[in-house]
Amino acid sequence: MTISSPTAALAQRFPRHFVWGVATSAFQIEGAATADGKGESIWDRFCRAPGAIADASNGDVACDHYHRLEADLDLIAALGVTAYRFSVSWPRVQPMGHGAWNEAGLHFYERLVDGLRARGIAAHLTLNHWDLPQALQDQGGWGARDTMHHFVDYARGVARRLGSRCASITTHNEPWVIAVLGHQTGVFAPGYKSRTLALQVAHHLLVSHGMALQALRADGCPAPLGIVLNLTPVYAASGSDADAQQARIDDGTSIRWYCDPLFHGRYPADILAHHGADAPVVQPGDMSTIAQPLDFLGVNNYSRHIASASGPWDAQQGGLPLTEMGWEIHPAGLTDLLLRLQRDYQPRSMLITENGGAFPDPLQDGQVRDADRTQYLAQHISAVADARDQGAQVDGYMVWSLMDNFEWASGYAKRFGIVHVDYETLRRTPKDSALWYRGLLQQWRNSAARGN
Ligand code: FCB
Repeated sequence: MTISSPTAALAQRFPRHFVWGVATSAFQIEGAATADGKGESIWDRFCRAPGAIADASNGDVACDHYHRLEADLDLIAALGVTAYRFSVSWPRVQPMGHGAWNEAGLHFYERLVDGLRARGIAAHLTLNHWDLPQALQDQGGWGARDTMHHFVDYARGVARRLGSRCASITTHNEPWVIAVLGHQTGVFAPGYKSRTLALQVAHHLLVSHGMALQALRADGCPAPLGIVLNLTPVYAASGSDADAQQARIDDGTSIRWYCDPLFHGRYPADILAHHGADAPVVQPGDMSTIAQPLDFLGVNNYSRHIASASGPWDAQQGGLPLTEMGWEIHPAGLTDLLLRLQRDYQPRSMLITENGGAFPDPLQDGQVRDADRTQYLAQHISAVADARDQGAQVDGYMVWSLMDNFEWASGYAKRFGIVHVDYETLRRTPKDSALWYRGLLQQWRNSAARGN
């Protein structure tokens, strides 16, 4: 490929220090749900509720990553990435969520982190990617302040063991999802339907994040510390006042409700008023605890959100291509989002911790011709470069996901991987998008070597 190719031109837009990765989470790939002393998680339990998962599947086997660690590490290395984002399953390392540790579980993550290091890949560890120990749920889960204290103990134990071998540690993945989908609409574990509870849960997630940062820093944990938010830029459906007001609320409940406390130590006044009696109970000191300095903000972005006062927006109306999830493909939204975060919050550093799409992905003759995903990735990586060019401090990008996996309430039907997984044989096959990504990173290495 010559330097004038579009891929080479894209690669050249990123500096030598830029982090390139692929991402997964424990429950979605590990399987081994009861192996070696692992405790039950709320997702193990939720999958057994009739109708909870579209294809009535569960995470018992998933991609069987737990038993295929070495081969999967080789697979990651073969992509040429410099980073891998994964999560620790809390009930695998602390089956009851507090008290006794499960040495076999800790050892698994030790092998993972060491295996990455041996291959020259930076380990980006997430502590909570949703699979709370069921034992803690039985005591109130994230609705209870005690869970915050248990989380801090868990975070401390994991960081003491693995922190010096990690390139970053994230407290929570997407607190909005845990709060709203898990406790308000009930489509995710643990399946509650209460806005009051959801807002209290979101508050406890944020406070426990701050407490964990304080504890890890007091311990001298050398890894940069942050949180990952799902952030979808909001646009008004029309120029009407009603739609503008709806956009303000939607942006306020999804973005400002999390970023304002994290960066400014307060909830946004207009959204507090909007929540009324459902607003969370805040104890003295909570807000300053939340607002610990972040070494980085993790940004998960997939699409845009259109706010309409006349009811939910129908994505078909937008005229944009949709992914298999029905999500609109709008790369410019990622540029808008990153510039807005830079302007309003000035994070020290932002990492795109998830971006990608679900597409049909038929495996034919040993190949998956997922040109739609390659295009999605190229457009969004270009959108990140646009944001960087305009001053956004973005230092890394990770594709969701390394491989097809358990997509929560959608089960296994929605495929996000750049590597195909055959769920009969568990065989992994890199898709065309994986080969493209590897090529992009090769071009980036070449241009970085030239001193770009
Ligand atoms: C995000 C989750 C991730 C994955 C993608 C598609 O909300 O963090 O686990 O399911 O969506």
